[in-house]
Amino acid sequence: MNLEAIKAGIKEAGAAVLRTAPTEGVTIKEGRLNYVTAADLASERVLKETIQRNFPNHLILSEETESDLNDPLTVEHLWVIDPIDGTSNFKNGREYAGISVGYVEMGEPMAGFIYDPFRDQLFHAVKGEGAYLDEAKIHASDTDDLGKATLLTDNSYEPNGTKRNLQLVASLPQNPWVLMRGSAVLAYADIAAGRADIYVHQFFKPWDNAAGFVIAKEAGAVIKRFNGEDGTFLDSALVIGNQALVNQFLEAQGVKV
Ligand code: IPD
Ligand code: CA
Ligand code: CA
Repeated sequence: MNLEAIKAGIKEAGAAVLRTAPTEGVTIKEGRLNYVTAADLASERVLKETIQRNFPNHLILSEETESDLNDPLTVEHLWVIDPIDGTSNFKNGREYAGISVGYVEMGEPMAGFIYDPFRDQLFHAVKGEGAYLDEAKIHASDTDDLGKATLLTDNSYEPNGTKRNLQLVASLPQNPWVLMRGSAVLAYADIAAGRADIYVHQFFKPWDNAAGFVIAKEAGAVIKRFNGEDGTFLDSALVIGNQALVNQFLEAQGVKV
């Protein structure tokens, strides 16, 4: 599989984002404060063309393109794209957003690429081969006390979604250090790089998860549903971090670990 082509494509998509004014072509989608910009569409175009050129027989699931894919778990070769993750940041001139491309076989994420165009940082992983930030191997943190951990959570386009994430975090007895920065894929990348310790969100979309799954797992993180089962990239509610911290989070949800 020609991964270099995807690396080049995601950087080209990043260049397209940086070239496009954040305020250009803004439209609103379903949900609260859910926008699309010309840059989202420009990035998506580059990524889809890259994949179609290199893997003409593979299917694509991309956030800004309507899909008639019924069951992503039965697709042999599937690319899952988030052309800009952190559009709210981008649109308002806060330079914190990522581009995400995951490759999934029969529901299992096998390779992932997350690019931060503002810092020119490319995270990637292939199942079984470790996780990398540019050329350097990365590892999830080994912090083992949720009370001393940096916990990431996020906003949501659902009516009470942001409130529900905040209530969940506020209910944790350990009182971790909390950040909410507005890009799910960069949160996955930060968990993988050990820059943050645990990430909890209840409103993931498949394109938030696909690449992050491989990168975080290859860096040593585990990804669980709140009942302790293994997560899939189609799940909306997940906790991601090292085993010790995830266990402490699950215990707080009443799960026996
Ligand atoms: C959103 C961002 C945000 C998270 C939302 C996502 P988008 O993705 O990752 O941080 O809280 O749940 O939907 O819309 O910017 O691609
Ligand atoms: Ca997006
Ligand atoms: Ca997203």
